[in-house]
Amino acid sequence: MAAVMHLIAELGSDHRQVIGLALELKQALEARTLGRAIRIVEELDRKLGPHMRFEEKHLDRALEQFIGDTHIQQLKVEHDDVADLLLGLKRILKCGSVPAEIIPLASNGLRELIVHAAHCYGRILLIERLSQDERSRLVERLVASRREPVNLTDWKGAGTWSNES
Ligand SMILES: [Fe+2]
Repeated sequence: MAAVMHLIAELGSDHRQVIGLALELKQALEARTLGRAIRIVEELDRKLGPHMRFEEKHLDRALEQFIGDTHIQQLKVEHDDVADLLLGLKRILKCGSVPAEIIPLASNGLRELIVHAAHCYGRILLIERLSQDERSRLVERLVASRREPVNLTDWKGAGTWSNES
């Protein structure tokens, strides 16, 4: 029981934080506050690396019996889109301003991230259906993933949206 509570608490807190950061970043971009926007992009990149790596390598496979492979592939595409968005923002913001023309595209991407995080959080209901052994294994993998920090954009590599900018 301790293992499942730990897993649920950790994943719940991750998703809450990501939603909060995405909302803050949307505001920072709209207000064109460069320094704040850069800091939030970096924090999202840092936080999402181990989180999404754990999901793709371990959690999604453990939940495949409930959600199926097609949905797993869809989740991966959504993660790739987030990495593209963050990489694009990193490159653009490094130039020293928040160009007005990127705001609608970035806002749209952040809205997608918020929806993704909320759906992803809902999978906690399915984690409760796993066996005690499976949950304990997942906790070990989550802890191990956090011990090896990696930025999401480094883990995923270059994307498409960013290359076009
Ligand atoms: Fe997630």
